[in-house]
Amino acid sequence: MKGIILAGGKGSRLYPATRAVSKHLLMIYDKPLIYYPISTFLLAGITEILIISAKGQAASYQALLGDGSQWGVKFSYAEQETAAGIAEAFLIGETFIAGDSCALALGDNIFYGAGLTGMLQELAGLKSGASVMAFQVNDPQRFGIVEIGADGKPLSIEEKPAHPRANWAVTGLYFYGPDVTEIARSVKPSARGELEITSVNQAYLERGDLNVVRLPRGVTWLDAGTFDSMLEASHFVQTVEKRQGLKVACIEEVAWRRGLISVGQMRDLAAAFNNEYRDYLLSLLDQPD
Ligand code: G1P
Repeated sequence: MKGIILAGGKGSRLYPATRAVSKHLLMIYDKPLIYYPISTFLLAGITEILIISAKGQAASYQALLGDGSQWGVKFSYAEQETAAGIAEAFLIGETFIAGDSCALALGDNIFYGAGLTGMLQELAGLKSGASVMAFQVNDPQRFGIVEIGADGKPLSIEEKPAHPRANWAVTGLYFYGPDVTEIARSVKPSARGELEITSVNQAYLERGDLNVVRLPRGVTWLDAGTFDSMLEASHFVQTVEKRQGLKVACIEEVAWRRGLISVGQMRDLAAAFNNEYRDYLLSLLDQPD
């Protein structure tokens, strides 16, 4: 399965912070925001990743991430000309997807918790249809909302409903079979003129092909799109990292643990830093597990 990370948008909700720097390059505690969706993909076993940024910003992502070989992964880059909607990612990424199944991660979504890796790996095995993850929230008007029946099957899905029928938000991590490009092409822009990801999911729902996985309460899902949510996410990561001495979404660590890079490569990566991040990477090599 391939993976697309959508890191587009003008980030105008975060002006002036994002006037010159893309939101997904800003820090969540000790690493850029985009590290979080990348590590989610690596945990899922997805290593061929297309990063779609806003117009004129691909070079900054390339400067940060390169071709991915340092982490045993493969990055490609593309730009989204205008804010035409999340589902446009599949049209921009059509040649990259090349008839494979494909996951999409929104660049500002952070997942953390026990059992997540197994769940992600299972979802990444999808060959047809669509799977989305739902998370219980107390402000359902802000999200895509899925109503789930007693049998666990989705009944309806709506984008930011004024009168939500449920409080299960559809998170920004989606898994699709190879026909997603065709479906994305068939959906009509919404009232706000965007190709909504919810319309894509609705198309799968209508043909009985949408699977919803409810995240258990031990898993945390955060989206970092406002001043407050970015700070809250930073505090969350800081709290977990300080308490445990283990980093969250440390790409180098995930790549090493998954056998994508050797001990020697890990040492080289560490040598490029001169701080606590370096000490952390080196300390992992001395631990038995
Ligand atoms: C987007 C999607 C929404 C989803 C959310 C998750 O909304 O349109 O369905 O629940 O991401 O982060 P946005 O945050 O772009 O407004």
